[in-house]
Amino acid sequence: EYENEKVEFDKLVEFDKWEIPINDLLIDKTTKLGSGAFASVYKGYLKGKNPLLENIGNIHFALEMAENRDNEVAIKMLHTHADDESRTELKKEIAFMKTLGYHPHVLSMIGCVSSIYEPLLIVEYCANGDLLTLLRRHKDYILVDPEADCPAQADFCLTIKDLLSFSWQISDGLVYLSSKNFIHRDIACRNVLITKRMVAKISDFGLCRYSQEALYTTKVGKLPIKWMAIEALKLAEFTSKSDVWSYGVLLFELFSVGDTPYPSISPSDMLDFLLQGNRLPKPELCPEELYNMMQTMWDLNPDSRPTFEIIRKNLSAFLEVSS
Ligand code: ADE
Repeated sequence: EYENEKVEFDKLVEFDKWEIPINDLLIDKTTKLGSGAFASVYKGYLKGKNPLLENIGNIHFALEMAENRDNEVAIKMLHTHADDESRTELKKEIAFMKTLGYHPHVLSMIGCVSSIYEPLLIVEYCANGDLLTLLRRHKDYILVDPEADCPAQADFCLTIKDLLSFSWQISDGLVYLSSKNFIHRDIACRNVLITKRMVAKISDFGLCRYSQEALYTTKVGKLPIKWMAIEALKLAEFTSKSDVWSYGVLLFELFSVGDTPYPSISPSDMLDFLLQGNRLPKPELCPEELYNMMQTMWDLNPDSRPTFEIIRKNLSAFLEVSS
């Protein structure tokens, strides 16, 4: 009986370390960072003189915050008239993020508020927003020659090396997720966030599952058809190898600087289109060797696709050559 009580107590402590007192949180409702089907993300600030002394669940983040005087955070909350299903989804995402652990290329959870009637998920703030929007905003500011001058009207320019660096960072985050048997299921540029220091972080764990439960049915309407592997479309089979396929589509978005994949194909025709052997074309800025690797990510046979470890290793080599 004592053992049971101890387990209960440990659970409570575990629960506590993520819990943030609502009064320590300032939510800036005028700054909406993002909006999804059931929730919105707002900018916010975590009060407290020294976060290191506060009981913040993520010690790595507490250390980063110690040098970030503004204590900026991002807060995910439900829409005003959210139903019970949405509330359950957000609670699931919070529970999932508690198990995630720290990795520099995976978005960190800072804490949560679950003691009031609506759950809040508090994550690190990424000043440069999502990768897709960033790419589209800088489409005219890609320097093919890294020595060329960046036009004065651009806040910054991107080089092919920057695109390769983003690719490497994202693959590094995915090596971590797949090593923990997590399947993300929604790998796409819209779900990568970029920090003030241009660090890429994989985000949006709403569809993420532990591998054993990856076959659980999910409402088809929520799935990102044009990023899905052929077996995921056909049989709802999700594995790390279907994440590899999606990562290949992400590389297409990255090197086409924000193009939509298969713009002329309707989602309902995608499976047939892929079964006929069609794949995405090589974006102009994409190095030949990288496109060769992308094509292996879209192999009909999941076992013939490279692992994220192999992808990361090849990207390291491409980065060395480009510098
Ligand atoms: N948009 C969605 N989530 C965000 C975050 N954590 N930081 C910045 N912009 C975001």
